[in-house]
Amino acid sequence: MEKGREALIENVRTGIPPGMPKMGSCTNCTDEELEDVVDYMLAALEEEETEEQTE
Ligand code: HEM
Repeated sequence: MEKGREALIENVRTGIPPGMPKMGSCTNCTDEELEDVVDYMLAALEEEETEEQTE
């Protein structure tokens, strides 16, 4: 999360060898879909942090 949204999106596009495949293996995904799914992951993490604070 510290890297920021744009860096994460770039890493999803290019992949992170050896574990993370280019475009998350979704070669027919559009840029917009990959951006949306990174936003979804970031939102899920934010939600988790909020839950921890209220516990
Ligand atoms: C649309 C599908 C996917 C999305 C959106 C996605 C997204 C991400 C993101 C945002 C990261 C963190 C990148 C960073 O640290 O800068 C990541 C890391 C990683 N992903 Fe994916 N991923 C997808 C599919 C997959 C698949 C199919 C695999 C394995 C079969 C995979 C394996 C990994 C691994 C091993 C890492 C850690 C890489 C490292 O830091 O060395 N991902 N992924």
